[in-house]
Amino acid sequence: MSFQISINKTKQSRINEFNPDKIEFGKLFTDHMVVCDYKDGKWGNPEIIPFGNIEIPPGLSALHYGQSIFEGLKVFKSNNNDVAVFRAEQNAKRFNKSAHRMAMPDFPEELFVECVHTLVDLDRNWISSAEGASLYIRPFMFATDWTLGIKVSDTYKFMVYGCPAGVYYSHPVKVYIDRYHVRSVRGGVGAAKCAGNYAASLYPAKVAKERGFDQNLWIDAVELKYLEETGTSNVFLRRGKKIYTPALSDSILAGITRDSVIHLLKDMGYEVIEGRISIDDLINWHKEGSLDEMFVTGTAVSVANIQLVGIDNEIYKLDMTQELVAEKVKTELNNIRTLKSPDKYGWVKVVEPKLTAKS
Ligand SMILES: Cc1ncc(COP(=O)(O)O)c(C=O)c1O
Repeated sequence: MSFQISINKTKQSRINEFNPDKIEFGKLFTDHMVVCDYKDGKWGNPEIIPFGNIEIPPGLSALHYGQSIFEGLKVFKSNNNDVAVFRAEQNAKRFNKSAHRMAMPDFPEELFVECVHTLVDLDRNWISSAEGASLYIRPFMFATDWTLGIKVSDTYKFMVYGCPAGVYYSHPVKVYIDRYHVRSVRGGVGAAKCAGNYAASLYPAKVAKERGFDQNLWIDAVELKYLEETGTSNVFLRRGKKIYTPALSDSILAGITRDSVIHLLKDMGYEVIEGRISIDDLINWHKEGSLDEMFVTGTAVSVANIQLVGIDNEIYKLDMTQELVAEKVKTELNNIRTLKSPDKYGWVKVVEPKLTAKS
């Protein structure tokens, strides 16, 4: 089936509120958003409308029973004002994996990408070309049946909106390994980007923050000993030319940055080992002095070093004074995303100016 995206442009742009030198993430949204409804077993045509509130009934199924999934991706402006979208087709694929796990309908992947590109073209003036700045894009879908009975919803809403993101200084992070709380379980929904995963992690994350850490480094829920990921990023451990990262499973989100970084590391001559890494491995490697570096990868953070790991009542500090591979891989990734380096991987798509002139 072919879809037509209709466009209802705002009559009152808020672009004057946008100060590229003073961007507060999550506070200001671009002029437009995408809305598309699913009913009678099929998706309707997406509409692009002025950004604003939506009306929902008190019995909205997503609010009560949690069928709600989302994605997050970034769009960059190059030095000559080309707008570049990073691997949106991978977000479209992952979105449908999440949809499948949550018994929600697929959203056509090409249409997902087209919705993102059309929105980005229309709101391209909201993207700053300052070093490290971007437009964060949030596609999401939620169940819209008005129901009190617990069941798979028959109706859904798909939406996309954009939010300018300022320069992200990825400071080295402090992570905490909580031996009691878990983010996700075998056979559960950890590999899906569903709203409930984030709700479940808020309490342990609050406790970790109160203890002075930035975030949790989650462990598996079966044996309570293998590293998994943080609440917003995947994790890597470097020992010389060998770089270890937890193998993907149904309890780990398959990060798109993780995949990109694995490609870049291999091309930089590192051996990347995807497998099981236990808390004891981490402690032993640290004790014997072979743990050179730890870092996390994700859309928000890009690549950031871990400066210390809290386990039980011990702090394991990483040496931040040596040459850090995370820094090198971050620079290369950011250069590709902003069209400064050639993109031999085919990750970046330039959005042609059809609706709004390049500026
Ligand atoms: C739980 C979790 N793990 C990992 C990631 C990193 O994924 P990506 O690199 O696709 O942003 C994210 C961010 O979306 C996340 O929420």
